Amino acid sequence: MNVAGKVFIITGGASGLGAATATHLHAQGARVVMLDMNQALGLALQQQLGANSQFCAVDVTDEAQVAAFFQQLEQDYGQLNGLINCAGIAPSAKVFGRKGLHELAMFQKVLNINVSGTFNMLRFATALMSKYERQAGEEERGVIVNTASVAAYDGQIGQVAYAASKGAIVSMTLPLARELSQYAIRVMTIAPGIMETPMLKGMPQNVQDALGEMVPFPPRLAKPEEFAQLVTQICENAYLNGEVIRLDGAIRMAAK
Ligand SMILES: NC(=O)c1ccc[n+]([C@@H]2O[C@H](COP(=O)([O-])OP(=O)(O)OC[C@H]3O[C@@H](n4cnc5c(N)ncnc54)[C@H](O)[C@@H]3O)[C@@H](O)[C@H]2O)c1
Repeated sequence: MNVAGKVFIITGGASGLGAATATHLHAQGARVVMLDMNQALGLALQQQLGANSQFCAVDVTDEAQVAAFFQQLEQDYGQLNGLINCAGIAPSAKVFGRKGLHELAMFQKVLNINVSGTFNMLRFATALMSKYERQAGEEERGVIVNTASVAAYDGQIGQVAYAASKGAIVSMTLPLARELSQYAIRVMTIAPGIMETPMLKGMPQNVQDALGEMVPFPPRLAKPEEFAQLVTQICENAYLNGEVIRLDGAIRMAAK
């Protein structure tokens, strides 16, 4: 897919990996719609990017909000070609630790945002993408990129809920790609390692350095732009489908 002129939704688009992806796709000529609950950051990014960018305050887990958003999007843009799901949370808690039992509500919240939120977005996105009338020479209608984590494979102590949610994202990839092939929509997943997003940047420098040194090569945290670059390459390469790509500098996380 040539992303120039195409319409992309980026969830979690106000911060971190989502914001970097919106910025990168926009620089390649795409029209980007950032969805997030952080209105202040989202509006600031919209102002920074200018024309061909829009921020919408939407909770990806809210069925009514998401349905209304897609209805408006169809009216305003008339097409959709890409959905990049970056919205997510990553709290940690032990199943039975010093603080007592892992709250069931917290487990359910992580699954709800990371898995149901992703699913809620992609079902509406599929319906709209499938209506796209391909131009001469265009092979595909759209592409969906979901964000897992290396925690799907090497989850650490305290990451039971997060690892379960990211494992679900990994497992959804192939059945989605198989089903959506009938509409010429591809589905890919990226499993990032340790990324230098606001979450990580909030940690003390020595902790950041120690995390970076755990990465075989390059021995540093990944830049959000490197994630954005991979998203764009996935969009551009029509033969990438139904697969999970680790973007992790060969890190394999230890138990803790
Ligand atoms: N940063 C890392 O090291 C890392 C590593 C592996 C995977 N990931 C995954 O990458 C994704 C992005 O992470 P990030 O580091 O950019 O985090 P981030 O906190 O900077 O951005 C996540 C964004 O999602 C938004 N969000 C949360 N719940 C939402 C909801 N219900 N509806 C709409 N928006 C919502 C937040 O407001 C936030 O702006 C997450 O899924 C995360 O699990 C991050």
